[in-house]
Amino acid sequence: MLTQALLVDDSRSVLNFLKRHIEAEGLVEATTFLDPVEALARARERVFDLVLVDYEMPHMDGISFIRAFRTLPGCADIPIAMITSRQTDDVKMEALQVGATDFLPKQPQSLEMTVRLRNLVRLGAAVRKQNDRAADLASAVAAATRKLGEREEEIILRLALAVEYRDNDTGEHTLRVARYSRIIAEQLGLPPRLCRDIYLAAPLHDVGKVAIPDHVLLKPGKLTDDEMAVIRTHATIGEKILADSSCELIQLGAQIAAGHHERWDGAGYPNGLQADAIPVAARVVAVADVFDALTTRRPYKEPMPLDVARDYLVENQGRQFDPACVGAFLSRWDEVVEIAAGQQATPYQKTEARLAPIIECAAESPAVEDRLPEPVPAA
Ligand SMILES: [Fe+2]
Repeated sequence: MLTQALLVDDSRSVLNFLKRHIEAEGLVEATTFLDPVEALARARERVFDLVLVDYEMPHMDGISFIRAFRTLPGCADIPIAMITSRQTDDVKMEALQVGATDFLPKQPQSLEMTVRLRNLVRLGAAVRKQNDRAADLASAVAAATRKLGEREEEIILRLALAVEYRDNDTGEHTLRVARYSRIIAEQLGLPPRLCRDIYLAAPLHDVGKVAIPDHVLLKPGKLTDDEMAVIRTHATIGEKILADSSCELIQLGAQIAAGHHERWDGAGYPNGLQADAIPVAARVVAVADVFDALTTRRPYKEPMPLDVARDYLVENQGRQFDPACVGAFLSRWDEVVEIAAGQQATPYQKTEARLAPIIECAAESPAVEDRLPEPVPAA
């Protein structure tokens, strides 16, 4: 690819001479402008590898041109030579300060002109190669980062589903809680990135159940107080499993695992945190998790009608739940109903699609009889 040179001079004869000279070795293609304002307009539209610009021109002098050119995207490193004749050292110093790379004497066919032009062309080609390499590298890094992010999301969801599969559900609870949580986070006005992260980390809320012994986790019938105490350790264990990660999503998962059974009035567990002391992500998931537990069928209970579960949230806002989270959830009630009915499309379908085989596999397996006492939703 030829080096692309931009030549700007108000003298047609100088322009013609420069063009002929710079294109002589067949390495450069030169675009010429008599008007520096037009030249700048063109430089905004396409990339040049090298610029030669006169000093004295109508509308705009060479220094103003260089100053404006340097502000254009991708033009910070492009070699610029100012063509000079009788300019003082002060003018040259100013040109250097605004970004000129070199000066060319206005002496046709001098040896100095030939050598410096050749060096400028080589410099222009080298800068372009370097910029191309940097762009390739940036694009490769972006692709690798995207892929890492996707893998991170997938591993988190597969881990959450593995835990849920061991417990008693088909994997759909995990996804519904994630979807409800996203609605609440969005309606709270949390930043889009945090909404997405809460959606992706919400499934980790019960990851601590992986460490609950089978004779307690899978026990049919009601649990004793001691067994309930064991079950309740899943919040702390989940936090420990996820703690101290360098991955932001897993850090958020740790907050959710630790805090999703805390209550707004401070009567929850494991730490009895109250109101805003409970991380917002945990307050969001608490509403989503309880609502889904209430409205889905379990071996020991029929699903609670959606309107009744809605009333439960309203009655318990300010006690069990953050009132803002309940308000946010109910403000998109139509979507909640669609999600509950399994009809909701989401903006994260790609991630969910990757999980479909696991969910189908889990759905085919016999359900394990649940053993939690009835009035405790979403343990
Ligand atoms: Fe839980």
